[in-house]
Amino acid sequence: MASISMSHIVKKYGDGFPAVNDVSIDVADGEFVILVGPSGCGKSTLLRMIVGLEDITSGDMLIGDRRVNELAPRERNLAMVFQNYALYPHLTVYENIAFPLRLAGAKDDEVDKKVRAAAETLELNEHLERKPSNLSGGQRQRVAMGRAIVRNADAFLFDEPLSNLDAKLRGQMRTEISRLQKRMGITTVYVTHDQIEAMTLGDRVAVLKRGVLQQLATPRELYDNPGNLFVAGFIGSPPMNFLPATVEGTTLKLPFGEVQIPQEKAAKVAGKGLLIAGIRPENFAEASAPHARDVSEANTFEASVDVVEWLGNETYAYIPFEAPPEVEAQLDQLAQETDSEALRTQLVVTLDGSSTVKDGDKIKIWLDGSKVHLFDPETTENLTVDASRAGTVPSLGIVAGESSDGAPAGSV
Ligand SMILES: Nc1ncnc2c1ncn2[C@@H]1O[C@H](COP(=O)(O)OP(=O)(O)O)[C@@H](O)[C@H]1O
Ligand SMILES: [Mg+2]
Repeated sequence: MASISMSHIVKKYGDGFPAVNDVSIDVADGEFVILVGPSGCGKSTLLRMIVGLEDITSGDMLIGDRRVNELAPRERNLAMVFQNYALYPHLTVYENIAFPLRLAGAKDDEVDKKVRAAAETLELNEHLERKPSNLSGGQRQRVAMGRAIVRNADAFLFDEPLSNLDAKLRGQMRTEISRLQKRMGITTVYVTHDQIEAMTLGDRVAVLKRGVLQQLATPRELYDNPGNLFVAGFIGSPPMNFLPATVEGTTLKLPFGEVQIPQEKAAKVAGKGLLIAGIRPENFAEASAPHARDVSEANTFEASVDVVEWLGNETYAYIPFEAPPEVEAQLDQLAQETDSEALRTQLVVTLDGSSTVKDGDKIKIWLDGSKVHLFDPETTENLTVDASRAGTVPSLGIVAGESSDGAPAGSV
């Protein structure tokens, strides 16, 4: 196994467009790192540069302490697990796993020892004499991983391995990959456009937009401390709400009413004028409901619910609002960039599943003022980010482990 270090990696294709633009990511030995972002942001290009299937325009690619920029794929000792698993249908599971060893001319007893050890780890012992067509999707994925294991690869690389599966199987496979990766502790880089896969699988997640690294952080850091509007809008479902806002003293003025925010948050945006407030749906509660949390009368406001979606365990209430043109333009652009179809000028509020709110009702809502993020509508930066809990945010000069206030960084 080995670490992978990408330093100022640039990839320009023939037309000069930088598909990957000055990306630096360190993957520790044994770490599981996700590359996530909307289609076309450069994820596959970056992965292919790690494996050696794509030339690197500039920057350094290190595996362990070896610079591999000029090495051919087979000299890098990495294992790419493809979406279609690339299994040989006419070979048994045993021979599929053994394939790279046979290719390398290994002796029969060595092949047998390694194949059986891998099959043991992957719980495939009972299936060694079967053909891939008789296996489930999950079992096939394990065979593909077995082939990578017997090679003693330094790292596993996955490019959207689950994107063709139905939702249920995808969930199962996600758990499977996570379990195996933890058990084997093998360095893994995994590409996906699915933010749920990113949040559930990775030790750390690298969010990319148009070839540029936006943030590299643990799932919790990304969720709680997004560095900019893009990361905030991309991570989380239903997505974070974005509302036009101004701050006076510690009073946050929103389209629905006024709420109090903590002094240190207010201080970071003093004198800023129009802002975009980012509030996750679960940071609201229904103040008027019998099951309401113990909420103070402060930070509550009345709102008319347009549509209610009841999901059993929780309820989504949709509340339309109006935004000034500069905020609306920024939110339209964000919806495009994040491939989202969400209507950004309606508030989504998560209520308890036992809520009796109906379409058209007027309800009293409470907002947790300490959870509000405030973004600059021009630069889209999160002005209220907690730098000690945001991982690495290149555009803000925040580097994990180098927090300005001396607090320990990078912890979950
Ligand atoms: N072989 C290629 N030649 C020219 N441009 C390419 C090539 N492959 C990808 N690109 C461009 O590079 C950008 C990133 O592509 P890609 O890495 O495939 O994105 P992702 O995997 O995130 O969807 C896109 O704009 C894409 O059009
Ligand atoms: Mg891709």
